[in-house]
Amino acid sequence: MPFFLTTAIDYVNSRPHLGTAYEKITADVIARHCRLCGIETYFMMGNDEHSQNVYKKAVEQGLDPLAYCDQMEREFRAVWRELDISFDDFIRTTEPRHRAAVQTLAQRSYDAGDIYEGIYEGWYCVSCEAFKQEKDLVGSRCELHPTLTPEWIREKNYFFRLSKYRDRILRHFEAHPEFLEPHPRRNEILRLLEAGLEDISVSRAGQLWGIPLPFAQDNVVYVWFDALINYAAAAGYATDEAKFAKWWPAGLHIVGKDITRFHTVFWPAMLMSAGLPLPKQVFGHGWVNYGGQRMSKSLGTSVDPTDVARRFGPDPLRLYLTKEISYGGDGDFTWERYEERYNVDLANNLGNLVSRAAAMAEKYRDSHVMPAGDGGRLAQVADAAVGRYRAAMKSYALHEAAAAAFQIVDAANEYIAETAPWTLARNASSADRLSAVLFDVVEAIRVAAVLLMPVIPSSSAEILRRVGERRPPSELRFDHDARWRADGERQIIKGAALWPRSDERAKEITVEEKPPSGASPSAAPAITRPVETPTPAAPSPASPDGRIPIDDFMKVELRVAKVLEAEAVPKSKKLIKLKVDVGTEQRTIVAGIAEAYQPEQLVGRTIVIVANLKPAKLMGIESNGMVLAASPEGGLPSLVAVDPNLPAGSRVR
Ligand code: MSP
Repeated sequence: MPFFLTTAIDYVNSRPHLGTAYEKITADVIARHCRLCGIETYFMMGNDEHSQNVYKKAVEQGLDPLAYCDQMEREFRAVWRELDISFDDFIRTTEPRHRAAVQTLAQRSYDAGDIYEGIYEGWYCVSCEAFKQEKDLVGSRCELHPTLTPEWIREKNYFFRLSKYRDRILRHFEAHPEFLEPHPRRNEILRLLEAGLEDISVSRAGQLWGIPLPFAQDNVVYVWFDALINYAAAAGYATDEAKFAKWWPAGLHIVGKDITRFHTVFWPAMLMSAGLPLPKQVFGHGWVNYGGQRMSKSLGTSVDPTDVARRFGPDPLRLYLTKEISYGGDGDFTWERYEERYNVDLANNLGNLVSRAAAMAEKYRDSHVMPAGDGGRLAQVADAAVGRYRAAMKSYALHEAAAAAFQIVDAANEYIAETAPWTLARNASSADRLSAVLFDVVEAIRVAAVLLMPVIPSSSAEILRRVGERRPPSELRFDHDARWRADGERQIIKGAALWPRSDERAKEITVEEKPPSGASPSAAPAITRPVETPTPAAPSPASPDGRIPIDDFMKVELRVAKVLEAEAVPKSKKLIKLKVDVGTEQRTIVAGIAEAYQPEQLVGRTIVIVANLKPAKLMGIESNGMVLAASPEGGLPSLVAVDPNLPAGSRVR
C-alpha cells in the first residue's frame, strides 16, 4: 500500500532552526523505517512562501520576493542535505503545480457554495498568519508572539463555511480515533469542535503576494488556505490524475502542536468541501526548546541545526532528537546535554562496542567470525528488543524504538563483560565458546544497526559494512534482516573510531599572532580558540592517499565577496578588519594579510571567502568567515583573485 508522508512546509522568512529541523528529522526516521519495511513511500516537504513576513523580508533585502524565495530554497535544501533528510519531493507554494491545485480547490469549494463574500473585522497576528479572536489574546498580544502587536484589520474578504462542517468533522473523529495522534492533541481539538466553529476568512484584499482567487482575481488566497493545499498539489491534484490516484489520501501529516488545528479542522473541511478524501492520520509533535525556553530568533534562543550537526556529524543530532524526546511531547536541547548524550550513547556505548568487537575478532579470529551456537541469551534479548521496536514504530513512539535498539547494545556490552573473551582466549578448551561469544556480539551489533538505520543512516551503513554486511542498505528489509541470524560467516572490518569522545576531538589551536616587539604580552595576547574537527558521523573509509570525497569539499561554502571597508587592527602586525558584502548581508572578517596589503588597497576588491565558518574572536573582534589567500612558504599572503565583475555571493566551487 503506497504511503504518502508529509511534514509542514516552512515559512522562509528565516533559516531553519533546531525546532523546524526536529520535525524533518523525525519524519525522515518514519520515512526511512517505512522504506526499510518495504513500503512504497513518498516523503515530501517544502517551503511556504506566500506569507506577508516572507514578502517583507524580501523587500527589506531589496530583492524581488521570488528571487528571495529561490535563494531561501537553496539554503533550506542545503540544511536538509546536511541533516541527511531523504525527502522524495520538495514543493514550493510559488510553483505552477501548487497554484493550479489552489485555484482548482478554491473554485470547487466556491461552486459548492462554501465560499461567500463578507467583511472581516478583527485581529490578525502576522507571525502566526492567523486571525485571532479577543479570547485568543493574552493582554492584547498573541500568546505565541508576545513581542508583536496584532493588527486590527477591516476588509472585504471571502469566507469559507467552516461552521457547516463541524458535525461531519466530529463524526470523523469519532469514527477514526487514530485520525489525530498523540491522544492529548485529540482531546484539545475535540474540545474546540464541541465549542463550535465560526466561518473563516480565506482571502486577503489589496495584497500582491499570493495566489489570486480564481473567481475574484483582485483578492489573494489567505496563506493558510493556500499552504494546506500543498499536500494535495504534491500528490498531483489538478495536474497529474494518475499520480493523485496513487498517492492520495496522504497516510500521515507530521506537524507541530501549534498548527494541529489547521490540519485537523480547516484542512478536513476544505477537503470535504472539494469532495476529496481526508488524510488518514495527523501527528502533532511537541516543541524543542533551547535551555527550557521557546526557540526564537529575537530572544536569542534559536539554534542553527547545521552548527549542531557540524559538532559531531548529523547522526548524533538525529539520535539525540529521536531518542531523548518522547515523540509527541516537548523536549529540550542544551549543548551540555547534547555532548553528554553523545559521549554516553555513541562514544562509550555503541562506538566502543563496535571497536571492541572488531579488535577482538581480529586478535582472536583473524577478523573472521563463524557461527557456533544459537545465540543464547543475547539472541533472546535482541528478539524481545526487535518486538518492542516494531510496536514502538507502529505507534510513532520513536524514542522508544531508538531506546529498544540501544537495549541490544547495552546487552552486548554486558555480555562481553560477563563472558570475558580475553580469558576464554587463554584456554584452548574454550575455543568454541570464544567463537560463539564473538559471533553473538557481532550479530547483536548487526541487529542493532539494522534497527538504527532510520535514525542514524550513514553510521548504521558503516557499522553494517564493518560487521560483514555486503548488501547496500537499500536492499535490507526489516522482517528479514532485523531477525537474529545464527548462520553465515562474517568478515569483520576494523576502522577508525566512529565517535571519539568529545574531549578527544576538541583541540586547542593557536592563531599565529605574536605581540609586536616592545608591547607587553597582555596588550596583544596570543589568541587561542578551540576548534572542533568537522568529522562526518560515519567517516568515509580513509583514503590511503588522503583524498576526500566531493561531499566533504562541498561542506565548505566558498563565496565571492566585495570589500566595502578595511582598517588595520590596532596592536596587530598581521590583522586587517574588513567589512565585506556577501550578497545577502554584510559581515566583518578579520584577515591575517596586513603584511602584504595596505587597508586602502583592499577597498573595492573582489575576493573569495569561506562563508560558513563558525565565528571566531581575533583580538577581540568577531570574525565571520575567512579570506582565501595563497601563502607561499616563507612569503607573503596573496589574495585569491576572481573576475571582479562577479556578483557578491556567487558560490565558488
Ligand atoms: N508554514 C506553516 C506551516 C504550513 S503547513 C501547511 C508554519 N511554518 S513554520 O516554519 O513556522 O513551522 C514549520 C513547522 O515547524 C511547524 O510544524 C511548526 O510547528 C514546527 N516548529 C516550529 N518551531 C518548533 C519548535 N521549536 N519545535 C518543534 N517544532 C517546531 O507553521
